[in-house]
Amino acid sequence: MNLQQVRLVVIGAGNRTNKYLEYAVRHPERLKLVGIVEPVEIRRTLVAEKFGVPAEACFSSFDDFFANPIEADAVLIGTPEDKHYEPCMRSIEAGYHVLLEKPISQTKHECLDILEASNRKGVIVGVCHVLRYHPYFMKIKEVIDSGELGEIISINHYAEIDIDRMMHSYVRGLWSKASKTNPMLIAKCCHDIDFLLWICKSRCRKVSSFGSLRWFNAKNAPEGSAERCINCGVEKSCPFSAVHLYKERKQWVRNFDVPEGKTLDEVLDVELERGAFGRCVYHCDNDVVDHQVVNMELENETVISFAVNAFTRNDFRGTHIKMTHGEIDGNETILRVRKFRGGEEKVYDFSDLCGQPFHAGADLNIVEEFVNNISRSNSGCEFSSTIASSIESHVVCYEAETSRLTNQTILID
Ligand SMILES: NC(=O)c1ccc[n+]([C@@H]2O[C@H](COP(=O)([O-])OP(=O)(O)OC[C@H]3O[C@@H](n4cnc5c(N)ncnc54)[C@H](O)[C@@H]3O)[C@@H](O)[C@H]2O)c1
Repeated sequence: MNLQQVRLVVIGAGNRTNKYLEYAVRHPERLKLVGIVEPVEIRRTLVAEKFGVPAEACFSSFDDFFANPIEADAVLIGTPEDKHYEPCMRSIEAGYHVLLEKPISQTKHECLDILEASNRKGVIVGVCHVLRYHPYFMKIKEVIDSGELGEIISINHYAEIDIDRMMHSYVRGLWSKASKTNPMLIAKCCHDIDFLLWICKSRCRKVSSFGSLRWFNAKNAPEGSAERCINCGVEKSCPFSAVHLYKERKQWVRNFDVPEGKTLDEVLDVELERGAFGRCVYHCDNDVVDHQVVNMELENETVISFAVNAFTRNDFRGTHIKMTHGEIDGNETILRVRKFRGGEEKVYDFSDLCGQPFHAGADLNIVEEFVNNISRSNSGCEFSSTIASSIESHVVCYEAETSRLTNQTILID
C-alpha cells in the first residue's frame, strides 16, 4: 500500500510531544512536522531547529495559529490538560485529525463534546492511551482474546507510583491540583481504567471509590520544618527533601529547562530558592489524593478492584486476572499464564523492555498507527485508541471521583 506522508502541527512542545516526535525523526518519509505552537521560546526554537520548521510556521499561542492556519493533516496536542479542550475543539472544527494526550479533558461533559465534534466533522481523534501499544499489555490482551483461559471473572490491578514521582508530579508539580489539571485518578490512572475496560470488552455499570490526601498536608509537617527545603531544620533526615531529590540525587531533573550559558545546578539553585519544586511537601497547595482504591462491576458481571499506591519505591503496574479456565498475573517484568487443566505454565519475560525509552516503544507505535490511519482515512478508521473507544475510561474515572466525594456507589447509565 502506498501511504502518504502526514503533515503534523504540534500544540505544546514539551516532554510528551518530543517523545512522539521521535517517530518523525525515524520515519521522515511518513511524518513531517510543519508547524509548532509553544509559548516557551527555548522549547519552540529547539524543536523548530531540529525539524527545520520555518519561523512563519512557529507560533507562541494557539490563537495565532488558528488565525493563520497552515496546511496540515493533523494536530498533536501535548499541552497540560487544562489546555486540551479548546485547541482540540478548534482543531476538529478546522478539519484536522487530532492525536490528543490523555486525559481527554477536565470534565465528563468536555470529553463528550470532543466525541460529538469528532463524529460530526468525521475526523479521527486519537487518545494517547499508550498502554494499548505496549508489548507487555498487548500480550495480556492477546492471551485473553485467544480464548484459551475462558472468560474473565475478576481482576486485581494496582498502579505503584514511586515516591519520587509522587513528590515531583502530584505534590509539588504539574498534577498536584485537581482544579488546574485533573484528580489523580484521571491524570494518572485513566491509563489503568482504559486498559481494564479494553481487555474486558464490557462496560462498567457500577463504581465506588475511597481515598484522600492523607499525608502531604500541613498537619503532618514535622517540627523544625520550613516552607522551603533549603531553609529546613530537618531536611537532612526528610525522605521528601527537594535538595536531596534534585540537587544531590539528580532525579526528575530532565524537565527543567537549562538556558544556554547556564548549568543545571544553577537552574536547580534558583528553583530550590524560588520555584514550585523547592517547596516543602507539607507546605504546597496540592489537593489531589495520595492514595485511592476503586471497585468496579461490569455489565458482564466481571468485578475489578484497583488501587493506586504512592508510598513505595515500586514504579510499575501489577495485574492478576482470574478467568474461568486459568489465570494471568504480571508486574510488567514477568507475565505468568497458568491453565487449570492441561498445558504448561507459560512465563513471558519482559525484563529487557523495562525502563526502555518511549514507554518501551509504545509512544512510537501509537504515532505509527495514527499516521497509517490518516494516510488511508477514507477507508474507515481502524485506530484502536479512538476517542469513541477511550471515553468510557474517563467517564468511569469521573464517576469514581463522584463516588469518593459523596460516599456513594454510582450506577453508570
Ligand atoms: N500518555 C502518557 O503516558 C503521558 C505521560 C505523561 C504526561 N501525559 C500528558 O501529556 C500532557 C503534557 O504533559 P508533559 O509531561 O509533556 O508536560 P510538559 O509541561 O513537558 O509539556 C507541555 C507543554 O505545553 C506547553 N503549553 C502550555 N500552555 C500552552 C498553550 N496554551 N499552547 C501551546 N502550548 C502550551 C508548555 O509550555 C509545555 O512545553 C499532559 O496532558 C499530561 O497529562 C501523558
